[in-house]
Amino acid sequence: MSQTTIMDHPLIQHKIGIMRVKTTSTKEFRDLVAEVAMLICYEATRKLELSDIEIETPLVKTTVKEIAGKKLCIVPILRAGLHMADGILNLIPNAKVGHIGMYRNEETLEPVEYFCKLPHDAAEREIFVVDPMLATGGSAIAAISQLKARDITKIHFLCLIAAPEGVKALQAAHPDVDIFIGSLDECLNENGYILPGLGDAGDRIYGTK
Ligand code: PRP
Ligand code: URA
Repeated sequence: MSQTTIMDHPLIQHKIGIMRVKTTSTKEFRDLVAEVAMLICYEATRKLELSDIEIETPLVKTTVKEIAGKKLCIVPILRAGLHMADGILNLIPNAKVGHIGMYRNEETLEPVEYFCKLPHDAAEREIFVVDPMLATGGSAIAAISQLKARDITKIHFLCLIAAPEGVKALQAAHPDVDIFIGSLDECLNENGYILPGLGDAGDRIYGTK
């Protein structure tokens, strides 16, 4: 049974609050994307399976835990997901990284895919799709459909800010995917932007526009 988790940790709320401020600098915004992604990832990896391995401490032999199976793969949705992936790699440096390039057509709000490159063994891995914004849900839904078309099944989706409309659409399209949300905002405006939101995540990360 998949779950939708809205993070209530004070650190996450505090950091997202700073990201929303329109005068927050590009550098600070970018750093915060990585930090909040790391904090959400801590929760999103809570249920990973562990297995026992034998090791030797400087004093004795003992059994410790390690993450079982074929390990993890982070899949940022370009552009804005890239800095979330960087943050998560601080926690899980051995994760593989796949990339899906997707942008919204500004008139129709429909996602347009322009790139997809995944590790060859992605189907054996636990996949964490990351994108700061879940607005209409079109980009996340299309990205996850791309993964499923390649026989990938163990998929989680992490975002910093979501609109209720996007959450509903993603849950309906991919009911098997766990969703982790830094902040659930109020609604979309007439241009498909999340309110109160933080504006265009890609533009704020890269200083474009
Ligand atoms: C933003 C964001 C998501 C998408 C969310 O990307 O990073 O990918 O919009 O909107 P949706 O849920 O309505 O699909 P954008 O299209 O601005 O591309 P960019 O990251 O290249 O700027
Ligand atoms: N994409 C963004 O970057 N921000 C929004 O509010 C909606 C879509």
